[in-house]
Amino acid sequence: MVVGILGLGYWGPNLVRNFLSQKEVTKVIGCDQKDERLKFIASRFPSVHLISDCEELMNGKADIIVIATPVNTHYKLAKKALESGKHIWVEKPFTSSSSQAEELIEIAERKNLKIFVDHTFIYNGAVRKMKELVENGELGNVLYFDSERINLGLFQRDVNVVWDLAPHDISIMNFILPKHEVVAVSANGIANFNGKENLAHICVHFNQNTFAHFHVNWVSPVKIRRMIVGGDKKMLVYDDMENFEKIKVYDSGVEFDSTESIHQALVQYRIGDMFSPKISQTEALALGANEFISAIQENRDPLTSGKDGLDVVRILEASDKSIKNNGEIIELNTSVLI
Ligand SMILES: NC(=O)c1ccc[n+]([C@@H]2O[C@H](COP(=O)([O-])OP(=O)(O)OC[C@H]3O[C@@H](n4cnc5c(N)ncnc54)[C@H](O)[C@@H]3O)[C@@H](O)[C@H]2O)c1
Repeated sequence: MVVGILGLGYWGPNLVRNFLSQKEVTKVIGCDQKDERLKFIASRFPSVHLISDCEELMNGKADIIVIATPVNTHYKLAKKALESGKHIWVEKPFTSSSSQAEELIEIAERKNLKIFVDHTFIYNGAVRKMKELVENGELGNVLYFDSERINLGLFQRDVNVVWDLAPHDISIMNFILPKHEVVAVSANGIANFNGKENLAHICVHFNQNTFAHFHVNWVSPVKIRRMIVGGDKKMLVYDDMENFEKIKVYDSGVEFDSTESIHQALVQYRIGDMFSPKISQTEALALGANEFISAIQENRDPLTSGKDGLDVVRILEASDKSIKNNGEIIELNTSVLI
């Protein structure tokens, strides 16, 4: 398979390295309009064929085109690649709007081409383990999902912090809670500098008694990458900043004596053992590249398809709308969401 990687900025070199290591890939073509990025790739990965014109890539022999350019260019480049008969890998977030995502999905279906959206964390060992623990009932019923992704971040020029950071956490939530229907979103945020929000709190409401909250922030003095999944049996903390024990499961919880009225009920607190399961260390991007190649060979959708990209974009879009309306609850049309 020939893979063309469009956009060799911050993220592109990781994609180049991981596609080069796939045994089915016979050639990697790198494309960037900036000469300095082509020189950088030439010095690190001499086997990569380099070009500066994306038209040449679209009209060439690539089977897959990987789009790792700024978010506001994804739709146009992805559409062109699909129309040129290429399977596409699109970086997160998939597109800048849900209507763009729907159109790309429709074109791909019509032409029997595959779309992979790079929700990288879905291929991460810790996230896989979280899903396994939730699915095998270790935590019991999930009460809430609470996530924090904050640091002194790279300000993106074309998107706010919601579109930059929250796709990771929203895609993880959708992955580990696939049966929870998102019915509404509310959000608040602030743009202190350039008109684009640099801090936001997003609340996701489900059709059952579960709640999710996401805090994303580019202006924090400390870097925190942490999630808590609270269950009625056990609770889990995923701390991506930890080198070793990234996941800890606490046998802690609260029990109400349900025979009494709520005012008289006895509340019992359980603080038990903690265990930290072993997690796979395989690089997520390598697993993602392998999954996409397999999906193309088997003529099926990859684990993170255009539809998964669309589900995330709908929540991002609703968050923006809510922020503009001071936290108004934005209902989602769940019949098309899930
Ligand atoms: N999956 C992840 O964990 C992850 C991490 C970081 C970034 N990303 C995503 O990757 C994408 C790129 O982000 P980045 O931080 O690498 O951006 P960047 O600005 O560092 O790099 C983008 C590159 O694309 C090139 N480019 C843009 N339009 C082009 C065109 N028409 N033809 C040729 N080259 C073109 C630019 O010259 C630039 O070098 C974004 O969608 C971002 O959200 C994903």
